[in-house]
Amino acid sequence: MELEQILDFTLRLIKDAGKIPAEHFGNKLHIDFKGRHDLVTEYDKKTENFIVSKINETYPDHQIEGEEGTAKDGRGYKWIIDPIDGTTNFSHGNPVFAVSIGLQKDEELVLGAIYAPILNELFYASKNNGAFLNGKPIKVSEVKIVDEALMATGFNPRYSEENIPHFRHFLDASQGVRRLGAASLDMCNIAAGRLDGYWEYGLKAWDIAAGAIIIKEAGGDISGLKGEKLDLYSERMICSNGKIHEEMVEYFKKIL
Ligand code: IPD
Ligand code: CA
Ligand code: CA
Repeated sequence: MELEQILDFTLRLIKDAGKIPAEHFGNKLHIDFKGRHDLVTEYDKKTENFIVSKINETYPDHQIEGEEGTAKDGRGYKWIIDPIDGTTNFSHGNPVFAVSIGLQKDEELVLGAIYAPILNELFYASKNNGAFLNGKPIKVSEVKIVDEALMATGFNPRYSEENIPHFRHFLDASQGVRRLGAASLDMCNIAAGRLDGYWEYGLKAWDIAAGAIIIKEAGGDISGLKGEKLDLYSERMICSNGKIHEEMVEYFKKIL
């Protein structure tokens, strides 16, 4: 019951939050740089501030961690927020970006919501209740071998070199490797059966918290590169439809 109420709150919140970048989508934006190719806009910060203020109003005791600097202590529940995942896409007028909100209870993920306002796709899941896209249940694909899979990855500048050999491998081994530019949506695409496997180095907890529970609730799997239990803070992750997971893990075990 409590989780149901929190889910209602989160879905209303994320839809309102998504309006902030959506209203400015396609406009010429002022860009600040956190690193040479690490972009941030005023809307990343505005969206995070909006989400944090609403959580604080309703759940003042909860912990909050957000990409744009929020780090609030508390007890029990912890919100993990990426206000705009795919800022580079957003800055270029590319619609593949999303607001991502995950929730842990006692360090276990219990809820996730990811909203791509321009694509008009709202993905969400809560523990033991399945995963949904715009209110309809979703599940992972039936692809059983990498040879028949459509894969995705990403290239965090700090790990580009490290990832190139893996990119090469899966380019040859699968039907294709996509690089869409928003980790949260890569994960939603796995959950919806549009992609079969995805790995990336350098992702932070806010990139993957919401997506991790959406994938699990859609029947997929998520772990460290060698199949170990997912650590949100390890910067190494693979996820899949579950059926090709072992094959991906075997590859990484052999090469690393
Ligand atoms: C980035 C995106 C991208 C991934 C990067 C992330 P941001 O998030 O998810 O797909 O490759 O590693 O940092 O910076 O747009 O929130
Ligand atoms: Ca992100
Ligand atoms: Ca972000």
